[in-house]
Amino acid sequence: MGAASPGLGDNEAVKVNDAIALGQRLLPQTPGIPDPRREARWLLAHAWGVEEAWLVSNPGGSVPAPVLARYRAWIERRARGEPAHHLTGTCTFWGRRFAVSAAVLIPRPETELLIEAALSLDLPSMARVLDAGTGSGCLAVTLALEWPSWEVVAVDISCEAARVASRNAATLGACVRVVCGDLSAALAPGFGLVAANLPYIPTNMLGTLPVEVQHDPRRALDGGHDGLTLVRRLINDLPRILAPGGWALLELGEEQSSEAVRLAGQAGLVAVRTVRDLGGCERILLLRKPGGVEPVTGREA
Ligand SMILES: C[S@@+](CC[C@H](N)C(=O)[O-])C[C@H]1O[C@@H](n2cnc3c(N)ncnc32)[C@H](O)[C@@H]1O
Repeated sequence: MGAASPGLGDNEAVKVNDAIALGQRLLPQTPGIPDPRREARWLLAHAWGVEEAWLVSNPGGSVPAPVLARYRAWIERRARGEPAHHLTGTCTFWGRRFAVSAAVLIPRPETELLIEAALSLDLPSMARVLDAGTGSGCLAVTLALEWPSWEVVAVDISCEAARVASRNAATLGACVRVVCGDLSAALAPGFGLVAANLPYIPTNMLGTLPVEVQHDPRRALDGGHDGLTLVRRLINDLPRILAPGGWALLELGEEQSSEAVRLAGQAGLVAVRTVRDLGGCERILLLRKPGGVEPVTGREA
């Protein structure tokens, strides 16, 4: 912060509340930072490795010099639009802390809807599961941890992203085979579940995204001319890679579900239902390959 941070000289003992107040002053209020004071408190908590609640209950505590230095640097970078999760290098997904880097998409809360839908399926306990476009590995790792008997494979075209996913699997104790490759092309058939949050932003919309989102890797966002280039490719390969009765859960962008349903129908898949996000957008599409043994539901005859 240098000259722009009066009152936070390197040799002064700085109190929690003063540090937060300064961060609040330096952070611009933007759609990405709707509440600069909360953002400053969150960054201070992460720079220090303490809970935000602890900061609230210790407003007069002295911030150690190395913590203050890290916090000051983060506030500067955040004020320039760098996403908060890139600064801390972590993001929480389904209650677990994932390492993230500039090589991967920051996991989004709406992607947890896909996990919720996957865990509600009637999959066999030994199912093979594919996460296509794994990024940080948030889907693959979460599914492997929530259902340890599933055999989970994760694929990403970015080998750097695949390395991040492998590290997350190792750190969180998940058994996931991570592959660097192009969608499902090189994978053998027989998956009971394919989960995919592929890039779905139309290329001509990329420039209009908020500054934070523009820090995500382009390869994680760019879905081609209509946003569905990769989704289309995956749907066309689903009849080959899914086991009879197998499921595919696709995360989609706004107003893409009807076209995805049409593509799925052409491929011989059944569109079972969609899950809406909090904004009402049909975010997750559940597809099923016909065949297999139907689960027994309802009363016995
Ligand atoms: C929207 S991000 C999703 C990451 C993660 N699954 C999540 O939900 O946070 C899409 C991911 O797909 C990967 N990807 C793009 N094209 C791909 C391809 N042809 N084959 C495999 N992965 C691809 C990108 O590198 C990126 O990591």
